[in-house]
Amino acid sequence: MLNCTLDEYAIKSSLFESSLSGEYRKKNGVFYTDVRLSRLIFDYLALDPKKLILDPCCGVGSFLYSAIEYGCCNVYGADIDVKAVRMCKTLTGLKSTVKKMDTLFEDSKVVLKKLGLKEKVDYVIGNPPYCPMEGTIVTDNTDYLFQRKIKDSGNNLFVVALYRSFELVKDDGIISYIVPKNFLHVFSYSLLRKHILNKKAILSIVDLGSCFSNVRGEQILITIKNCYSKDNEIRLLRYVDDSFQNVCSVKQSFYSDDILLFSSEDEFNVYCKLEGTYTKFSDICGGYVGRGRSLDEDAVSGKDIRKFGFKNRQVPARGNQVFIQNIYSAEAGIIASFAGNELKAKQTVTIFTDGDEKMCRYMVGILHSRLCNFYLLKFCYNNSRLTMHTDAKYLRKLPLKKDNEVLFNQIVSLVEAIEGREYMSEIWFEMIEELNELVYNMYGIDDSERVYIDEEIKSLQSKRWINDRDK
Ligand SMILES: C[S@@+](CC[C@H](N)C(=O)[O-])C[C@H]1O[C@@H](n2cnc3c(N)ncnc32)[C@H](O)[C@@H]1O
Repeated sequence: MLNCTLDEYAIKSSLFESSLSGEYRKKNGVFYTDVRLSRLIFDYLALDPKKLILDPCCGVGSFLYSAIEYGCCNVYGADIDVKAVRMCKTLTGLKSTVKKMDTLFEDSKVVLKKLGLKEKVDYVIGNPPYCPMEGTIVTDNTDYLFQRKIKDSGNNLFVVALYRSFELVKDDGIISYIVPKNFLHVFSYSLLRKHILNKKAILSIVDLGSCFSNVRGEQILITIKNCYSKDNEIRLLRYVDDSFQNVCSVKQSFYSDDILLFSSEDEFNVYCKLEGTYTKFSDICGGYVGRGRSLDEDAVSGKDIRKFGFKNRQVPARGNQVFIQNIYSAEAGIIASFAGNELKAKQTVTIFTDGDEKMCRYMVGILHSRLCNFYLLKFCYNNSRLTMHTDAKYLRKLPLKKDNEVLFNQIVSLVEAIEGREYMSEIWFEMIEELNELVYNMYGIDDSERVYIDEEIKSLQSKRWINDRDK
């Protein structure tokens, strides 16, 4: 039935995709899935080939092609782009079961009818478009409440596609969609996330990393059963060396909103330990936390800050501000300094203030520790490899323990001592190592957890930040 081999399909699909203008693709979220990945997804899902399968935004049919190759015999598709539908029919050999239509804003019953389907499907599979939608709602439209739900859930086409998929699939059917990874933790998608956590069963999430060369950001494959199951466990996997590798399983009830992708059992255990016991940064820092606003020429910019100090000025002795470089990379980790009272900061700096000078220095110590960088990267940025921002919304989530006065004072004194040392000298590195130990002690991190965190952070950090770099 198929009209070309997998390799021929891959070439023809990418030729067609590159014939579309960049602007059109961006506006309509047109980024086709590599057919080798969609083929792998079918093997992974191991679905019943006799069941009804639909890709409601099929493009030129990467998923439909793979479905047929896998052995499926009831394969349906639709796309709003008439040329893509034509090409899809040519490449897959499917004729009457692929239609040109708007499957996102058309009522799902109408969609099924137009496809000639008398019942809902067993599987909805694909990679729906991702793009932000206009903020306005058409108030005289009968589908006002649907549109309102979309707006309240992040106003993006992939959000529409997910909600629609729940209407297209049978109650015990399955949805398997590639969606942006930030769906798992960005606040604006919270309503849809909670809907899924409370009403559906997430069977698995595969971290795909950055698998679309032209799309900024990372993606996941999320597979959802269209009904709730009380004791459901979510399997977490990652896409490495052209295969999906098991990482660990987490009970769905563990998550109430943000869905963190743990990369091992050890990481999950460290998270539970830190979450279970401690207060957060937001519980303690009573002062301002946000971006700098100064337009003064001599205000501090992000690149003027270095770890525990500044490039072109002394660390002030007294005060209650901490400045943090707003751009965060896993290679460098957090870059922050005690900033006294007088200094002003530009937009590229995150500031926090606390009434108490000692607490500010303590925070500078915590922020530079491997433990804090581990937490930020893994649990605030959800293991993203992209360049992130040290914005208040992330910093507020950091656990902040301060119940051991002796350790607290040792950390504060050590931070003051590091400020007075030559930047990146041997003694400076030694003191940071000492700081790491004190922070681990403060947080009750045991030896095996330390080894795990050290290895994780050292594998990501640039060599210049590791004091045993010559070993
Ligand atoms: C990210 S592409 C993926 C295509 C295909 N599923 C794949 O994985 O290669 C998204 C597709 O959604 C289509 N699309 C956008 N808006 C749509 C709508 N309202 N109804 C149906 N298809 C739509 C685009 O034309 C595009 O082909």
